[in-house]
Amino acid sequence: MSHFQFELIHTDSRTGARVGRWHTPHGIVDTPAFMPVGTLASVKGLLPEQLKQVGTQQVLANTYHLALRPGAEIVEEMGGLHEFMNWDGPILTDSGGFQVFSLAQLTKMDDEQVVFRSHIDGSLFELSPEKAVKIQEQLGADCIMCLDECPPHDVPLEKMQDAVDRTTNWAARCRDAQKRDDQALFGIVQGGTDQKMRERSAEGLLPLEFPGYAIGGLSVGEKPEDMYSTLDFTTPMLPVEKPRYLMGVGRPSDLIEAIIRGVDLFDCVMPTRNGRNGMAFTSQGRVNLRNQKHARDPNPLDPECDSPGSRDYSRAYLRHLFMSREMLGPILISLHNIAFYQKLLRDLRQAILNDQVEEFRAVHLARWN
Ligand code: GUN
Repeated sequence: MSHFQFELIHTDSRTGARVGRWHTPHGIVDTPAFMPVGTLASVKGLLPEQLKQVGTQQVLANTYHLALRPGAEIVEEMGGLHEFMNWDGPILTDSGGFQVFSLAQLTKMDDEQVVFRSHIDGSLFELSPEKAVKIQEQLGADCIMCLDECPPHDVPLEKMQDAVDRTTNWAARCRDAQKRDDQALFGIVQGGTDQKMRERSAEGLLPLEFPGYAIGGLSVGEKPEDMYSTLDFTTPMLPVEKPRYLMGVGRPSDLIEAIIRGVDLFDCVMPTRNGRNGMAFTSQGRVNLRNQKHARDPNPLDPECDSPGSRDYSRAYLRHLFMSREMLGPILISLHNIAFYQKLLRDLRQAILNDQVEEFRAVHLARWN
């Protein structure tokens, strides 16, 4: 019996939007779902029980960061990520490929592996497909990702094709390296915004029969319309009966547009990173709590949302916390933003079940703009 099952509950009759249930060894994820980012095995400033209270079912952590510090051996010795971070729900780890390209000083990359310098102490570190799988087996997440190459969106087509082919090659090696049978290994489709490249990538990965497929290489500087049109032709290339994960996306409006195009799973640092800087996503659009106009504002941030930061404090107080650099400010707004995202996803699932997702999009985009 497989440890994983993706149950499709309803597909919208007019769009690609779908509602599903992803069964994992650590519980169910209702899709479309948003995973808060816990890069270092911590969603910054928030307790696991707080994340759950606002509707979080699955979180993401990063192989690259955890392999460098504290090291995969220590996490394994402490009983794996679930024990280590006291999160008993599903976890997904990213493979490290993307972080190597965006954070580390890359010293060498060939078909065999990537060699980079740690952004912490400059020491040399090698990452091959086999090693990325080994580390993710030590970390012990429910969903793990293939090592991939994510080039900038505007590289010349030959370079994009090399990255696509290397990603396919590495995906086959990841699959062969996998020893544990209780982790779902996802393939990652690359290819930038080019339809032929995405086709090439999907054609290479589909025969490997991964239990789920991610779409990588988006939200890396291309225009939102280009991301949406890429999704228009990419999601139909992926198996209907398997979960589809759009990596590193995005703003609330991006989530709606991607869900309408058939995406099931998301992660993004935006709600927590922006929250730490005093920027809140609300039902009426973005609010910058550092703005002077909130200095005497007795109103709560967003009474439609169900978290302490949304309901229980005045905007004047929240602004005061940020202006005074009190740590409660980033905590309250990070939690509010996660609550906002989880409510958005809950409402979207209901709208899909009601065959009303396009109406939902129209109402919300009008409000936020
Ligand atoms: N996170 C955001 N985009 C990507 C991507 O293309 N690949 C990986 N591995 N992680 C990502």
